[in-house]
Amino acid sequence: MAENRTIARQGLTLRRLRQDRFIRGLTRQARVSPEQLIQPHFVVDGIRQREAVPGLTGVFRETADSLAKQVEQDIEAGADKIILFGVPAEKREANFNHDFTRRQIENLRRRFGANLWIAVDVCLCSHTAHGHCGVLSREQDHVVNDASVAELARAALSYAQAGANCVAPSDMMDGRVAAIRQTLDANGAERTLLLSYSAKFNSRFYGPFREAADSAPRSDVLKDRATYQIDPARPDDAYASSVRDAEEGADILMVKPGLPYLDILKELSSRIEKPWAVYEVSGEYAGVELLAAQNLIPAPQAHVECWTSFVRAGASMIITYGARHARRWLSHV
Ligand code: PBG
Repeated sequence: MAENRTIARQGLTLRRLRQDRFIRGLTRQARVSPEQLIQPHFVVDGIRQREAVPGLTGVFRETADSLAKQVEQDIEAGADKIILFGVPAEKREANFNHDFTRRQIENLRRRFGANLWIAVDVCLCSHTAHGHCGVLSREQDHVVNDASVAELARAALSYAQAGANCVAPSDMMDGRVAAIRQTLDANGAERTLLLSYSAKFNSRFYGPFREAADSAPRSDVLKDRATYQIDPARPDDAYASSVRDAEEGADILMVKPGLPYLDILKELSSRIEKPWAVYEVSGEYAGVELLAAQNLIPAPQAHVECWTSFVRAGASMIITYGARHARRWLSHV
C-alpha cells in the first residue's frame, strides 16, 4: 500500500463529510445546548419604567416589577438560569448597603421557587460614587484591597441568605474568594456555589454594561481598572489568578471577555480541571447586533457561531445577553 500514499487522490476527500446537514450534524465535535447558557439581568433602584440598554437589543434596566415579568417570560423560553446585577440608587464610599439587591433576590425566589437558578454578581462598582470595584484610599489614588474584600464578603453572604444559588465576585481583589467562602461556610451557606471571575481582563469591551450598571470609573486620579483587572498582554497572570482562586475554594472559574481571549480559555480550561465559564461581554454582544442592524451579518447565526467557539475552547457554560433566544437561534443551525 506504500505506493498508494504517494498518489495524489482525485475528487472528494474532506468534502464528503460536509455535503449535507445530516452528515454535518453527525460529525460535529462541539455542540451548544440552551442548558449551557446564563442570562444576565440588570435591576435598578429608583427608576419608574424599564429602560432599554443601548447596544444590547432586548436588554433592559429593569424595575423590580418588570424584572419579574421578564424572568417569567424567559423561563418559558427556556432561560431559567440568570446572573443578577443590582444597581442601588444611593452611592457610598464605604459601609455599603446591599438591601436593594437582597430584596430582588428574595422576590425572585419567592415568586419562582426552585424553577429559577440565580447567580448574583458581587462587586462594588455600582455602589460607589467613583465607579471603582472597591474602596478607595483617603488620597483616592488606589483601591484598598482588604477593606474591599470585607465589604464583598458581607454582600455575598447577604445574597446567599436571600436565596442566591451562586455568588460571582467580579471585583478582582486579592483574597476575595477565600474570604467569601469562609464567610459563607461560617454562616450556614455552605451549599452556595462560588463562581469566580478569575481571568477577568482590563478590557474596553465593557462599555454598554457600564451604562446599564451605572458603573464606569469616574475618579479623576484613578481613571481605569488597570490596577486590579488583568492586563490583556499577560496570560500568565490569568493562569496564576485562576489557580489561586481554585485553591481558595472557587467551584467554577471564568474567562472574560470571550472572543478576544479564546486562547486564554482554551489554555486555562485544559490546564485547570474545573468547570469553566466564559462571559460574552456587552461590547462583544453589541458588536454582533450592530453589524446585524446594518444588514451586514445575520444575528442569530453569528451569535451561535460565537457560542460554538466558546464550547470548542473549553467552556461548559456561557453568560450571554442572548440566552433567552437560544432555543430559537440554535434551531437555525
Ligand atoms: C463589574 C462587572 C463588569 C462586567 C461584569 N461585572 C464591568 C467592569 O468590570 O467594568 C462586564 C460585563 C459586560 O460587559 O457585559 N465589575
